[in-house]
Amino acid sequence: MACVCSVEAIPRFIVSAGGNVSAVRTHVAFTPAEAAEAPTGIVIDVLRATSTIAQALAGGYRRVLCCGEVEEARALREELGDGLLAGERLCVRIPGFDLGNSPSEFAVATGETVILSTTNGTRALVTAAARCERVFAGSLLNLAAVVEAAREEGEDVAVFCAGVKGEFAMDDAYVAGRIVELLAGERSDAAHAALRLSRSFDSAEEGLRASQSARNLLNAGLEADIAWCARESEVDIVPRFVGMHGSAAEITAA
Ligand code: MLT
Repeated sequence: MACVCSVEAIPRFIVSAGGNVSAVRTHVAFTPAEAAEAPTGIVIDVLRATSTIAQALAGGYRRVLCCGEVEEARALREELGDGLLAGERLCVRIPGFDLGNSPSEFAVATGETVILSTTNGTRALVTAAARCERVFAGSLLNLAAVVEAAREEGEDVAVFCAGVKGEFAMDDAYVAGRIVELLAGERSDAAHAALRLSRSFDSAEEGLRASQSARNLLNAGLEADIAWCARESEVDIVPRFVGMHGSAAEITAA
């Protein structure tokens, strides 16, 4: 599971037809209400949807179908006649579903397809899919791999924080700051703010624990998930949006 990717903090540049050189710009949308757009989108819901997606693909699942609503997930399972239903509401596994949303549950695949519905993260992916030419699911677990993939695209990046029910979430902002730090290039004010925020914590786990999302997990008896999701660059997986399956965003490993 160890990641072998290297991340060099070098600026990225685009050379136009006229020979002008410009740095690629990174922006951070801290809440889902901000309608940011960029050719490359990175969606963050570190506690826990995007961590779970990275873990599921690393664990051997071929694809994750992300649904905004529980009923959409159930209908998709019915239509496909296959796939594991997974997800949470109020951090807890949805009644009748096969799996919850703890990344540890996905470490070893028991099928090909996960149909996932979570409170914020899967919705953020569906939204970003409509705004960007390409979308990656980012987390700490796959930090280096996703940053490398975004850099290779050589175009402006928007980092979308899923937040918690529309509000700013410290855990996602922390990860956004780590992405900004590794991407280099030009930065919007929001990107600078994310970077400063992430540098104010001594460790990733401290950054995640400072969030409402972490407090919600603690209250639900799911504290172990925080440490699991705080591990950086453990998997060499780039979850990428490949198309819509009805109203679900299909994510596979690039
Ligand atoms: C979400 O999508 O809001 C999260 O993943 C919530 C959770 O995992 O409990």
